[in-house]
Amino acid sequence: MRCIGKNLGVTVNNITISYNDEGPDDVPVIIFIHGFPFNKSMWRQQVDALKGRYRTIAYDIRGHGNSESGNQKFTIDLFADDLVNLMDELNLSKAVLCGLSMGGYIALNAVEKYPERFEGLILSNTQCTADTPEGKEKRMQAIQGIKESGVEKYAGESIKHFFLPASLDVKQKAVAAVKQMIINTSQKTLCNTLLALANRKETCTHLAEINIPVLIMVGKEDKITPPDKALFMHKKIESSQMYILDHAGHLSNIENQYEFNYQLRSFVELISKKLFCLSDTDGN
Ligand code: MLT
Repeated sequence: MRCIGKNLGVTVNNITISYNDEGPDDVPVIIFIHGFPFNKSMWRQQVDALKGRYRTIAYDIRGHGNSESGNQKFTIDLFADDLVNLMDELNLSKAVLCGLSMGGYIALNAVEKYPERFEGLILSNTQCTADTPEGKEKRMQAIQGIKESGVEKYAGESIKHFFLPASLDVKQKAVAAVKQMIINTSQKTLCNTLLALANRKETCTHLAEINIPVLIMVGKEDKITPPDKALFMHKKIESSQMYILDHAGHLSNIENQYEFNYQLRSFVELISKKLFCLSDTDGN
């Protein structure tokens, strides 16, 4: 039987995964996958925008938020297997995925390995390329820095890269909430996930095989996964549409939640009308 609510726990690959499951039964299911080093709470505005009409599941990737780490080596492959096992445990044969940055890496990996399990894909502020040698080197320096100077210092430095400079002043509450997510992530998870990110494989060569509807969104000023990365994926995926969001850097779902939610809702409505023959207006 389905449990509805927040901070629910389910055993997946021998660890407890923490998830929120909200919205009605027998409607399309959207699974939200957070970026690094955040947790499922980064999706609150999107879940609130969709949960009246869709079943929304936001979960914590192993080691993050309230999910256990387990003993296996962290890899994006393992995170994708966790996702599909979570779907199995929740009896979901199919879902729409919405992943931001690392969440997008996981979504692309899962769609490549288990294409039959997904009926739509939202790729936000992400990319299909693997790390360059310089990118890997930066991850190793970050690991070194975390070990030497601790998580709080890492949070203080990395937060500047996730938001526009203006948002650091104007959106102080949102910035503080994201910073707290980083501080709440253990040193071990930060280091192990940085290694997983450095070692991830590219997914670009499989993009042309994707034949489900795809929405690609990116913040205009995203310096981590800039718009050209999004455009590259858009060109490779025939069934994709793409939006560049103004006034947004890497965390575009938080910095420009109005536009993000508008595009997200329009996309999900479109695919659910096709797949589930939902009516145009609520209640009809
Ligand atoms: C994220 O937001 O998930 C990270 O910026 C991804 C990355 O570092 O490649």
